[in-house]
Amino acid sequence: MTTDRILRPAPSIDGSAIASQSVSIINRRQFMGYSLNAAGGVLAVSLGTLGFASILLPPGGGSGGDLQVKFWAKGREDEAWYGAQHLQAMTKSSFVEEAAKSNIGVSGAQGVWNGLPVNVTYVPHAENKDKAVSDNVPRFQFMEGYNLSGNYVGHFEDMTDAEPELFNPDENLIMVFSRCTHLCCIPGWQLVSNAFTDDNWTPGGGDGGGSKLFCICHSSRFDPTALEMNQNTNRSNGQQFQFAGIRRAGGPAPVGLPLIPIIMNGDYIEGATTHLDWLTYCD
Ligand code: FES
Repeated sequence: MTTDRILRPAPSIDGSAIASQSVSIINRRQFMGYSLNAAGGVLAVSLGTLGFASILLPPGGGSGGDLQVKFWAKGREDEAWYGAQHLQAMTKSSFVEEAAKSNIGVSGAQGVWNGLPVNVTYVPHAENKDKAVSDNVPRFQFMEGYNLSGNYVGHFEDMTDAEPELFNPDENLIMVFSRCTHLCCIPGWQLVSNAFTDDNWTPGGGDGGGSKLFCICHSSRFDPTALEMNQNTNRSNGQQFQFAGIRRAGGPAPVGLPLIPIIMNGDYIEGATTHLDWLTYCD
């Protein structure tokens, strides 16, 4: 038996639909196809088949896990700038090279780390952090986080003050777990073209400007430059946990995406397994 789902058109900044006012109805098989296309079928199929907990084994734990992050370029990513680098190790220099082609010096890519879908974004923070805050001068923004009830959770720097290894802004890189907090599709970097994915930037962590991670399933948006502390729920045991991550800018996703701390190994981008509990909101 198939379950029909409504695939909503992407809304514009003012909330109206862009591109098409029609609402597509798709069944579960098609729904999975959309999510697989968003960042790669094998990943999502693996998650579904093996179960989340069995994949979250740390490197060396018998899973063949690996600290190194690799490009993921199967599906829509075939045509992305890293399309020819499927499963090749991510390097910072490749992001820098791609960012030089951007109007605002930003680049991003889908990846796979430790068997999980991730997104890595390069932001020219070190170059821009002392410039006046204005459109199209992107930098990381350290912000307060509020839960679904509007209650203050904490500030991103509350977490990084206690644990500086979480994030080094001067590396100009951030990596997040790329599963949407709505229904666990895989948000991508410029895999669709709309106002949210354009090559521009607006400060404040809101829904204006481009350079958002965009979830194709129901149009959730996440700002990879807006860093906050927030809370989510472990799907297995129902317990709430606090995490450091990027802000939800719009759409049905309840909160933003958790970061995975980056470890630089020369030019190679690696991920730390110190906060796997932050990734437990999907099955
Ligand atoms: S899964 Fe629904 S917006 Fe991402």
